[in-house]
Amino acid sequence: MSTVLVTGGTGYIGSHTCVELLNNGYDIIIVDNFCNSSPDVAGRIEQITGKKVKLYKCDLCYDVEKLDEIFKENKIDAVMHFAGLKSVSESIKFPILYYENNVFGTVNLCKAMEKHNVKKIIFSSSATVYGTSSFAPYDETMPIGDVSNPYGRTKYIVEKLFEDLCNSDALWNVVILRYFNPIGAHESGLIGESPKGIPNNLMPYISLVAAGKLDTLTIFGKDYDTPDGTCIRDYIHVIDIAKGHVCALSGITKLSGVNAYNLGTSKGTSVLELINAFQKMTSRKVRCTFGERRKGDIPVVYANADKAYKELGFKAEYGIEKMCIDAWRWQCNS
Ligand code: NAD
Ligand code: UD1
Repeated sequence: MSTVLVTGGTGYIGSHTCVELLNNGYDIIIVDNFCNSSPDVAGRIEQITGKKVKLYKCDLCYDVEKLDEIFKENKIDAVMHFAGLKSVSESIKFPILYYENNVFGTVNLCKAMEKHNVKKIIFSSSATVYGTSSFAPYDETMPIGDVSNPYGRTKYIVEKLFEDLCNSDALWNVVILRYFNPIGAHESGLIGESPKGIPNNLMPYISLVAAGKLDTLTIFGKDYDTPDGTCIRDYIHVIDIAKGHVCALSGITKLSGVNAYNLGTSKGTSVLELINAFQKMTSRKVRCTFGERRKGDIPVVYANADKAYKELGFKAEYGIEKMCIDAWRWQCNS
């Protein structure tokens, strides 16, 4: 297996995964509509790896003929599917946009793959699919689907779509990766996360406050049933997430049907612990204040990551300190 089509490859997680794929000898073809990224990222991936990247501007929802051409022009062995919209708050305001982009876009991709007999795909899902009916540590045997927002439901629906596809045709081979909380950036400082406008997620917010671009971080809730009263999450370095994809790709041929794996560290970190680690590692002050709980937040979320280790040989390497240093280096370069 040598050529991987990467949808959303100029985005945050896609770009880091492209670097790991190229470093591991795969050729890549990026397909992106740049709605949340820039074509310049492809040049940065080339700069980091010293390898060529093939880049197509193509929208999975609207450029169906172009997508067909891309599959015709290239010999593609497998697909990694990152393209999607990812803001929970935006999905509550614009559910149709989210269902259209994330579900319809995936349907179009699967149609093109089926037509060109490419039946191996690795899909970016989220720990959010576990919803509220189970408790940490989350493992893959737990039920999914009790999700409280449209974004999470699109991930659940696409997971089910892949299940149906694999039931209909034994030649399909799907790995679903449920990410916990990816943070950090590439050590080169050349690629990282660039949220548009004011970020919703904690790490980009911390970085912007530390950089003086935002005034104060509001910590959502201080009375949770956790040791310091703030929510706990399983933060995982984006490079580890990228490496998890390479492990999934080398493991996919030994698997059959659809298989889901958590990508996490199995370790929980509270909001206050993350802020303190960031301050310590960067020697910057992060001004913060306590506010109300954010609606929909689950107090404690962390993975049981054993299945990915046992079946794919994947184990996250990096700790919270490196995540903070790398996020800050990227912030300083942005
Ligand atoms: P991102 O926004 O940085 O990257 C997504 C990329 O997909 C962008 O480059 C965007 O331009 C592109 N894209 C979106 N819709 C498209 C379309 N219709 N056609 C072509 N390109 C399109 O997001 P990310 O953080 O890299 O996330 C990648 C995937 O991982 C997403 O599916 C996201 O839902 C999932 N995920 C992310 C997180 C996280 O915390 N970042 C957590 C769990 C799951
Ligand atoms: C959020 C999404 C989740 C998505 C994930 C990654 C919600 C309810 N969940 O998860 O579906 O998969 O992002 O994109 O939005 N926090 C603050 N102040 C802030 C921002 C965050 O205190 O300004 C706290 C939150 O309350 C939470 C923790 O920091 O406890 C992490 O928040 P965030 O980075 O948004 O990730 P999740 O809530 O895990």
